[in-house]
Amino acid sequence: MSYRIAILPGDGVGPEVTKAAVSVLSSAARRFNLTLEFEEYEFGGAAIDQCNDPLPPETLAGCQAADAVFLGAVGGPKWDKGGPRPEAGLLGLRKELGLFANLRPVELHPALADFSPLRPERIKGVDILIVRELTGGLYFGEKKRDGDTASDLCVYSKGEVTRVARVAFNAARLRRGHVTSIDKANVLETSRLWRETVIEVHANEFSDVELRHELVDSAAMKLITSPGSYDVVLTENLFGDILSDECSVLTGSIGLLGSASLGAGANGLFEPIHGSAPDIAGQNVANPAGAIASAAMLLRYALKQDAAAKAIEQAIFASLDGGARTRDLGGELSCTDMAEQIVRQLGS
Ligand SMILES: NC(=O)c1ccc[n+]([C@@H]2O[C@H](COP(=O)([O-])OP(=O)(O)OC[C@H]3O[C@@H](n4cnc5c(N)ncnc54)[C@H](O)[C@@H]3O)[C@@H](O)[C@H]2O)c1
Repeated sequence: MSYRIAILPGDGVGPEVTKAAVSVLSSAARRFNLTLEFEEYEFGGAAIDQCNDPLPPETLAGCQAADAVFLGAVGGPKWDKGGPRPEAGLLGLRKELGLFANLRPVELHPALADFSPLRPERIKGVDILIVRELTGGLYFGEKKRDGDTASDLCVYSKGEVTRVARVAFNAARLRRGHVTSIDKANVLETSRLWRETVIEVHANEFSDVELRHELVDSAAMKLITSPGSYDVVLTENLFGDILSDECSVLTGSIGLLGSASLGAGANGLFEPIHGSAPDIAGQNVANPAGAIASAAMLLRYALKQDAAAKAIEQAIFASLDGGARTRDLGGELSCTDMAEQIVRQLGS
């Protein structure tokens, strides 16, 4: 099979971890007999430097034509001083590709339990998939400013909740069959619609999956006190933004985790959860594991190559088991060394 992958290296450590992810994808392609064509485009700050636009038309067209999009990271202090912002490119791309569901797996590798801020008995066995609604709610509602008064409108429609709930229930079927839907239904009208809709989708289409509801404030506590009690977590845009960052620290390093943003079409966007890490950019010390985990998600969700995705995930685990450690994990391996270890484990 032949696939086109749009590559957006972006800014800071983005190009370093992207190179690592592409080397692992190429290796997986050899082992699993896939043809992957990589087409690189300017994006974020790098694109602002070229043409004063974080999402140039040719980048958008390349992403729309691709089977999947891989992104390193965008942003940095260079573009914080006024003018167009790199992050606007990311919001624009998500909107243009209609990416309404963000998936973030949070899984602890046993060999890295000491890097978690939680006690070993609390963090043991944690394996959560956060499904966050990505294109609705407070971030996209009408914004107003009238002197000393400001407002942001939170809007959700039943259709928006239904489509992201389906993503969560389908994911649960492939995992441990449990969804926790998080809202603030005791206070917010949008949350009451959220809860009613999730209950309806569950009853009509997914009654084989277990469903429970939690309020966001108590969920924020329980994700720390008993993270092992969660399988799939389904929530709206703002709550998901906050809770997914809270969960990302559970596993020890932000450099370890990948993500997928999916829509109705095939061409999802896959990126590590970390930012452009300007403090370590250009030093070849970034941990590429999160980018490589995102590459595995690209194979699974966009190209439907689950065996290749699993092989990459096992290669990451085997490398960490074997003691491979970048600087964020107290080791001395460079970004390139870590990628080479993972490629060796993959054994193409
Ligand atoms: N999706 C994205 O591209 C994205 C996401 C978040 C932040 N950002 C942008 O990135 C820039 C920096 O943001 P920040 O500093 O808040 O977050 P960050 O994730 O870039 O960095 C936070 C800390 O984690 C470390 N870190 C991050 N990735 C790492 C890796 N792979 N290996 C080892 N250590 C790693 C950094 O060195 C830093 O100490 C900002 O401009 C922000 O807007 C972009």
